[in-house]
Amino acid sequence: MEEALDQNRLLEILKGFAPSRDSLIPVLQAVQEEFGYVPPESMEQVARHTGVFPSEVSGVITFYAQFYTTPRGRNVIRVCRGTACHVRGAKAALDTVRKFTGIEDGETSEDNRFTLETVACLGACALGPVMVVNKVYYGKLNPGRIEVVLKDLP
Ligand code: FES
Repeated sequence: MEEALDQNRLLEILKGFAPSRDSLIPVLQAVQEEFGYVPPESMEQVARHTGVFPSEVSGVITFYAQFYTTPRGRNVIRVCRGTACHVRGAKAALDTVRKFTGIEDGETSEDNRFTLETVACLGACALGPVMVVNKVYYGKLNPGRIEVVLKDLP
């Protein structure tokens, strides 16, 4: 169920930034840090505070891959689907993650435990197949190792 946006928390964040368009990205980063994503209901106030149109706020959010407008899971799993990982078995790694979590690329599990994403390269090609879970890298993956990692996640 969607919770209503906590306006007080949002106002506290906005107070910390100069009311200027230069603050737009830092404000969005702070909002995401606080709520785990950028709630769409926050955009109008962010726009008002930074003096831009609401459409510009959504434009920035769409442009930068770092921003999300839906809640994410406690554990964000990013599986590489780049060429170097592909030839070393990235597909089997991804299939194992999909099976274990029950979700597809871009989805979050209903219990909010997992979010799954695939990415073009994680910059650790020699260790392929690679996944990153909450900023921790796991390389040379095989199904058994993946299950051990995922099983222990909160
Ligand atoms: S291709 Fe997978 S980390 Fe680069």
